[in-house]
Amino acid sequence: MSARGKFIAFEGCEGAGKSTQMRLLSELLQKRGVPHTVTREPGGGEISEAIRKVILNGKFTAMTDECEALLYAAARVQHLADTVAPALERGELVLCDRYIFSSYAYQGSGRGLPRSFLEQINSYALAHFMPDLALFLDIPPALAFDRKHGVDENDRMECAGEGFHVRVYAGYRQMLGEFPGVFVAVDCSGTKFETNAKIAAMLEERGIIPRA
Ligand code: TYD
Repeated sequence: MSARGKFIAFEGCEGAGKSTQMRLLSELLQKRGVPHTVTREPGGGEISEAIRKVILNGKFTAMTDECEALLYAAARVQHLADTVAPALERGELVLCDRYIFSSYAYQGSGRGLPRSFLEQINSYALAHFMPDLALFLDIPPALAFDRKHGVDENDRMECAGEGFHVRVYAGYRQMLGEFPGVFVAVDCSGTKFETNAKIAAMLEERGIIPRA
């Protein structure tokens, strides 16, 4: 039986380049023969993807902050059961686009919900699936929105306004130091290939992936 795999989350503001970095890392892992699963939150499986459609639906402007937080937590639990746990049991490295730190940044710092409420509704994830590493792609939201050429009008979260995204970014920055050795910043000021090389080096240093 293989050892339990490692679990890595990618975090950051909208347009920080998570998907690109996950794709580049996945290509590198493929070249090095590292078995891995690439997935995302909210989503990753049939039920969680259905919950995602409800959360992000631009029509649902009346959704309460608490409902939003609970839906993210619900999608998370299902995704852990359907996708993350089986992959970890197969000994694979799991790359997950967003995790609990998104709830702390968006629903906590962004919406203003108390951390204790978020910890309570995410207690299953926190007790059983704390990631080995969460890579925070550190780019301020104004720069990130520029990169992705503005806001997607159909996405309820992206439409939340500039002040919201500034609070989210500040929330992320505050988490540096709160989860030592787990929640770490990646400097994204260089090209996407330079950022990819930095991420690979961080994973090698921690023994999460073998050196080339
Ligand atoms: P994502 O697919 O990463 O959006 P993008 O690729 O545009 O950055 O995430 C969807 C949205 O959900 C994003 O606006 C962040 C938000 N989110 C939360 O607010 N809380 C959470 O717990 C998670 C996982 C995501």
